Amino acid sequence: MKTKILNILKNTDGYVSGEEISRTLNVSRSAVWKHIKALKKSGYVISSVTNKGYRLEGSDVISTDEIQSMLDTEFIGRTLFYTKETDSTNNDCKRNSDMPDGTVYIADIQTGGKGRRGKVWVSPPGSGAWFSVLLKPNIRPEAISKITLIAGLAVCRAVGCGAKIKYPNDIVIGTRKVCGILTELSAELDTVNYAVCGIGINTAAEAFEGELADKATSIFIETGQRPSRPALIAKVLNELEKLYKLFLEQGLEPIMEEYKANCVTYGSEVVVTYNKEQICGICSDITPNGSIIINTGREKLEISSGEVSVRGIYGYV
Ligand code: BTN
Repeated sequence: MKTKILNILKNTDGYVSGEEISRTLNVSRSAVWKHIKALKKSGYVISSVTNKGYRLEGSDVISTDEIQSMLDTEFIGRTLFYTKETDSTNNDCKRNSDMPDGTVYIADIQTGGKGRRGKVWVSPPGSGAWFSVLLKPNIRPEAISKITLIAGLAVCRAVGCGAKIKYPNDIVIGTRKVCGILTELSAELDTVNYAVCGIGINTAAEAFEGELADKATSIFIETGQRPSRPALIAKVLNELEKLYKLFLEQGLEPIMEEYKANCVTYGSEVVVTYNKEQICGICSDITPNGSIIINTGREKLEISSGEVSVRGIYGYV
């Protein structure tokens, strides 16, 4: 009901009376008032004027109601939790792995945000969209890395402003990283119990320090605008579900063309570090298996794991 009232407020220019809301939704005026109070409590600024009604003035917080009011998904984000502070939203999913498929955990601050290869993911308040999706696909464990590719494309579509994928799990704008994706897996030998796809998008950071100074960026740094985090998260979840469903039905094949068109790794000079060995060459293809083909000049190698550096992108010159 709260979500429905929120939608009415959003779709109304100016004031809408309590009577009109109660008529439209077929609930009592006191119920409307109760839900408006709850919306205010969760961070919405709603003004109320006698004889005019209610008007939505804005929101500067991540609210589950607002995100859900923008979802057009069937299951991703239909169960959704927001907490001000957690250690890691990926850990939230793991601790609650009995929640339904598609459950999403979001936080404003992560005190133990996790990056790939044991790195820390710095997650200060108000500066990013830090969220994780619990997924229960009926696929083989070795196919799980494909979920990272799907999530990358979903973020790319949602962020816009020239964002591109750096295979396999970074999103860059220009030569700097704006988003990282960490997919974790719980599996038996041949079955997936669940996967957690954690996404961190730098939205509002004004600058980065230390080793991140010339490697990281945010949407604010690139565009001068702070995007609405609820709107951005909803967009990512909407895109993610479309791509994920397609993937479960048909594999990666149908999205490969779009993936390659949005991937800075494809066609570039790369160095892959794998087991302390370095392979240099041109990334001549990305396959529907989710691996990349490196043309070293002497041979073509198919590589599905390892650290892939792209010439010209953070640090590799
Ligand atoms: C990387 O680029 O190394 C991956 C970074 C992933 C960060 C996100 S933020 C939300 C989720 N929770 C975590 O602890 N990590 C992921």
